[in-house]
Amino acid sequence: MNIKSILVQEGKFSPTTKPHNLPIFATSSFNFEHIDQGINIFEGNEEGHVYGRYGNPTIETVAEKIAQLECYDIEEEGFGIMVSSGMSAISTLLFALLKQGDTILTQANLYGGTTELLRKFITKLGVKIEFIDFASKDLIETRVKNDKSIKLIYCESPANPSLACVDLQYISDLCQKNDILSVIDNTFPTPYLQRPFNFGIDFIIHSTTKYINGHGNSIAGVVIGKNRDYYQTLLDAMKLIGTNCNPFDAWLVNSGMKTLALRMDAHSSNALEIACRLFKHEEIAVVNYPFLPSHRDYEIASKQMQAGGGMLSFELKGGIERAIRFMNAIQMSSLAPTLGDVDTLILHPASMSHRNIERNVRYENGITDGLIRMSVGIEHIEDIFLDIEKAIEKSK
Ligand SMILES: Cc1ncc(COP(=O)(O)O)c(C=O)c1O
Repeated sequence: MNIKSILVQEGKFSPTTKPHNLPIFATSSFNFEHIDQGINIFEGNEEGHVYGRYGNPTIETVAEKIAQLECYDIEEEGFGIMVSSGMSAISTLLFALLKQGDTILTQANLYGGTTELLRKFITKLGVKIEFIDFASKDLIETRVKNDKSIKLIYCESPANPSLACVDLQYISDLCQKNDILSVIDNTFPTPYLQRPFNFGIDFIIHSTTKYINGHGNSIAGVVIGKNRDYYQTLLDAMKLIGTNCNPFDAWLVNSGMKTLALRMDAHSSNALEIACRLFKHEEIAVVNYPFLPSHRDYEIASKQMQAGGGMLSFELKGGIERAIRFMNAIQMSSLAPTLGDVDTLILHPASMSHRNIERNVRYENGITDGLIRMSVGIEHIEDIFLDIEKAIEKSK
């Protein structure tokens, strides 16, 4: 072979022993041994990878592991499909399951991006969206009874950033009785703290960008189903919309996920301690944390979560001006528009995650101009609290 051809051809790849860590398959396509094999795989008569947008061993390994976590205590094996972000997970799922004329019933206090996606784009498909207060079972039941076009109930629990919780057993019972699909965004608690399939929920989505990765170096998401009858439809939606994850981000999720249990324990104990201290603090007007007995949904949270997780939100006495002074005075923690990393992060929902939600809707859901969201990290508790204490003093 000419030297130019040797350069262009792939080198000889013949691994002897198995790699201890998951390899990154950085390839857009896979070779067939012969044309019959290619045809067989395309026709579904033989297993095999063909093209990176359809599937990739790195990505599938990680997706299956997250599905295994979510299905930890149910009989069904379930399935997982990794996609390019949490938003991809939501859009792929809705695109796959709904059709023109269907209605989604959902809570008014979702992550701002989800509300925007539903309003701006899902409605364009001819799907109606009903945003209601999920704290009211009467309201949910009335809507379900009066609107037979409701095909899917979408919830987020705990919700971002109010930490409001939805009674998952109640939602799934209602859905089963009325032939409605139930979906939950389980990003905040992760399968380590809350496993919605135990309560009968049909589908789970995650932004793995957050706690599952945990290190703030990957953007990805996953759709998990427990009934394999839906697998092909969801896989087709991922392939054809092109919401596939990339192998490097999936690999980073896999690396981070190994310490999920240790991290979630540390996040939860630090966040509970910070929430308790803030609750007693004379300069604090409101604290939202699901495992704080004063929280509106404390009972629901205690019933369905193992611990409260790392997210909380609070308001200082003094409104938006004080909140801005506080955020500027924070030293150790970072002001960054994400959550779930190992280090403590602070965000201002009114101007960031919920900037495109009308003020009155935000206020109805406790997302005031002065609300501060904190993703409590796993640093030493006293360092996190000292940073907060100093910023509270400075913001007076
Ligand atoms: C609860 C929740 N779901 C979904 C998303 C979207 O995730 P991603 O940024 O990975 O698309 C976010 C982002 O902040 C979120 O907080």
